[in-house]
Amino acid sequence: MKFNILVADDEVNIRRGLAMGLTDEGYNVYEAGNGLEALKIIASKDVDLVITDLKMPEMTGEELLKNITANYKNIPVIILTGHGTIETAVETMHNGAYDFMTKPLNLDHLFLIIKRALSNRQLVLEHNELQAQVEKMKASSMIVGKSPKMRQIMETVEQVAGTRASILLTGESGVGKEVIANAIQSLSDRRDKPFIKVHCAALAEGLLESELFGHEKGAFTNAIARKKGKFELADKGTIFLDEIGEINQNTQVKLLRIIQEREFERVGGEETIKVDVRIISATNRNLEQEVKKGNFREDLFYRLNVVNINIPPLRERREDIPLMATAFMNHFAKENNKQINGMDSKVMAILYNNPWPGNIRELQNCMENAVIMCRGNILTVDDLPFAMRKDSGDNYVKIRLGTTLDNAEKSIIMATLDMCKGNKSKAAEVLAIGRKTLHRKLDEYAEN
Ligand SMILES: Nc1ncnc2c1ncn2[C@@H]1O[C@H](COP(=O)(O)OP(=O)(O)OP(=O)(O)O)[C@@H](O)[C@H]1O
Ligand SMILES: [Mg+2]
Repeated sequence: MKFNILVADDEVNIRRGLAMGLTDEGYNVYEAGNGLEALKIIASKDVDLVITDLKMPEMTGEELLKNITANYKNIPVIILTGHGTIETAVETMHNGAYDFMTKPLNLDHLFLIIKRALSNRQLVLEHNELQAQVEKMKASSMIVGKSPKMRQIMETVEQVAGTRASILLTGESGVGKEVIANAIQSLSDRRDKPFIKVHCAALAEGLLESELFGHEKGAFTNAIARKKGKFELADKGTIFLDEIGEINQNTQVKLLRIIQEREFERVGGEETIKVDVRIISATNRNLEQEVKKGNFREDLFYRLNVVNINIPPLRERREDIPLMATAFMNHFAKENNKQINGMDSKVMAILYNNPWPGNIRELQNCMENAVIMCRGNILTVDDLPFAMRKDSGDNYVKIRLGTTLDNAEKSIIMATLDMCKGNKSKAAEVLAIGRKTLHRKLDEYAEN
């Protein structure tokens, strides 16, 4: 591999001489007459190492070094110095320079330092690469699923993980929104930084605000001491706002500000606090509809929804069911010290055809239950919850020929409602009709 070295010096002769020497050693060389030029090259080319003079017009070597250590921390910088500036050169070592050399240069010595610096850099880069691969494997092994829809989701996750874009995860309860949020975090370069989860629905109105932004001592009756909020704790990392659809208008305004300005004040406080936080939020509501109804601010919606990842319900990606069921079966068998070698094909057929209104969480619970009930080495239909057995009688509606269409519809609606344990929103979703339509029909049935 040919390494790229950038030489920055305003003295043309020194720069040229050095560049020629380095080219003879087999390096690719870029030249810059001052710090600014050097930065431009670093931004547009793959630079592996920088050699810079200290005193240069426009931008000095010290400033250049500061910029490199702040923005390109893996590029080693070697400082060249005339006599008179040795003290400054030593100081640059504290500021992150790899080494320094006094002029006139001893080229053989310089080449040795360069070799060592580059091999160090190589190790660091390889380590980072390996680390990223390990995280990728960890993230994808947490996520079971090979349906085209799941694959597409994983592709998006990999694409956006490295950016700071706000992500809104949508999908029914139990589809795996939190699992995807975890995957994004562990694939991002914020993976070693805080990952703070906030369950927005679990907190009362006033409390949510102090939970998110913190409060000063005495801000309200129970505020006996200053408390840092989740945004402060998540600085440099990621915050996961679960059930974002539940927050009130006041908190929405504050959230908007923190996303736009990256700053906020603690409740009861005046000090403005700046943070660098990546926001992932999740909801099982249709936020667009909430915006239309006036319950959710449109501007906030667009800010949160820079990237939308919609996770479809399990019934729309049934190909994932066998894989997931097997993974859960193995997991719970191990957890319960049971030797289970597989499942009856009838069991798989029932699992495959079940509507799973509670999605993956429901499948997971079902498999845990079945494993616990299982007495032999194979899961059988008898191990499944009663409602699912017999392929399952309960999952079918029998309609006698000669029935009116209205009555047939009623049977299907009532049976679906039953299957969804009375949850009307869910039933409407399964039937693919609006909630209002369902309510109207139920009212009609009640009247007759
Ligand atoms: N792709 C997946 N592979 C394996 N397990 C999964 C997957 N997706 C979800 N699960 C499991 O299903 C359960 C529900 O997932 P999760 O909590 O992420 O759902 P959710 O969408 O956040 O639900 P809710 O809206 O109710 O909070 C969890 O126990 C999770 O481990
Ligand atoms: Mg969740």
